[in-house]
Amino acid sequence: HELAMSIEEIEKGGYPHFMLKEIFEQPRAISDCLRGRINVEDHSIQLGGITDVLDKLVNAKRLIIAACGTSWHAGLVAEYLFEHLAKLSVEVEYASEFRYREALIDEDDVMLVISQSGETADTLAALRTAKERGALTLGVCNVVGSTIARDTDAGVYTHAGPEIGVASTKAFTTQVSVLAMMAILLGQKRGVLDEEYAARLIEELDRIPGKVQKILDNSDSLKDMARLFSYAPNFLYLGRTYNFPVALEGALKLKEISYIHAEGYPAAEMKHGPIALIDEMMPVVVIAATEHTNEKMISNIEEVKAREGRIISITGEDNDEVIDLSEFSCAIPETEDCLSPMLTTIPLQLISYYIAVNRGCNVDQPRNLAKSVTVE
Ligand code: G6P
Repeated sequence: HELAMSIEEIEKGGYPHFMLKEIFEQPRAISDCLRGRINVEDHSIQLGGITDVLDKLVNAKRLIIAACGTSWHAGLVAEYLFEHLAKLSVEVEYASEFRYREALIDEDDVMLVISQSGETADTLAALRTAKERGALTLGVCNVVGSTIARDTDAGVYTHAGPEIGVASTKAFTTQVSVLAMMAILLGQKRGVLDEEYAARLIEELDRIPGKVQKILDNSDSLKDMARLFSYAPNFLYLGRTYNFPVALEGALKLKEISYIHAEGYPAAEMKHGPIALIDEMMPVVVIAATEHTNEKMISNIEEVKAREGRIISITGEDNDEVIDLSEFSCAIPETEDCLSPMLTTIPLQLISYYIAVNRGCNVDQPRNLAKSVTVE
């Protein structure tokens, strides 16, 4: 038993929990994911795993994405990415719902499944349904040689390395990295992506690991913030466009490991329900990191403040307007709107981690949850 403990300590590499280790590994995980795939000299992207099916993908009319949990949130980010960069229509499905619906899918469609473990039962079932109907199937998996990786026609690995903490962290940011590369590549091949913009995005992708590192290096204040808010029974997370899925992911992370009830919402939907919950006890985490929706987010913040809600914001380091309106703010380096989820997710992971630790929760193995759900 003692020996087993010490092996675990070694595996944690000096961190108190796997989750924290995996959060701090993200600069390296994202670099490993991008390495050999993006070329900043000629502004090209190479994804060896999908080269053979690229033609079919270029001509696809529709992409259906199926996944569960955090991987489903990566799928939602992909919906915005593929529509914006590749002008490809996307539907994102909960794998568990897709498999029991009379889903209209055939050989003209492409099904993309996203799974860290590559073993999730519902995701595998959705994949098999799509295959039976003749669709081209693609996988974005982390575990090499997993069932989903083997059963798909083609795919791209995330190369995040082993993820032990039940709550997914580096798997998510590397999934988004892969999906961003796929969307840019497809946009270029379909001839719908402005060359200069593509070049800017590829150069910016290359800078993302450094920017993630910067967020981690300056993250100490999040501990104080977590102490202030660990009491709260409810949290609301708000985001728009690319950061709406990040709001969902932030809320999921908090639920999973701290057992605090949390909801993620598209910021404008707040007025159709959650606004009724807001009072001086309610922390509202606002992800205000996309330029073209900034004014709208500011009015949402004002709506929350008018009801005494407490604003925690994740926003650009120069966004003084949002920072001034917030009780607590975590600054993230400037980036392209569509790549911002890879940055905005990081403080949200840390906020839930520190809150869970404050509340004495078992961070790496939260009650009732499994790392990989291989049964229905
Ligand atoms: C479980 C895990 C989550 C994960 C989900 C999907 O619920 O606890 O962290 O996001 O399964 O897993 P997958 O391996 O398919 O990405």
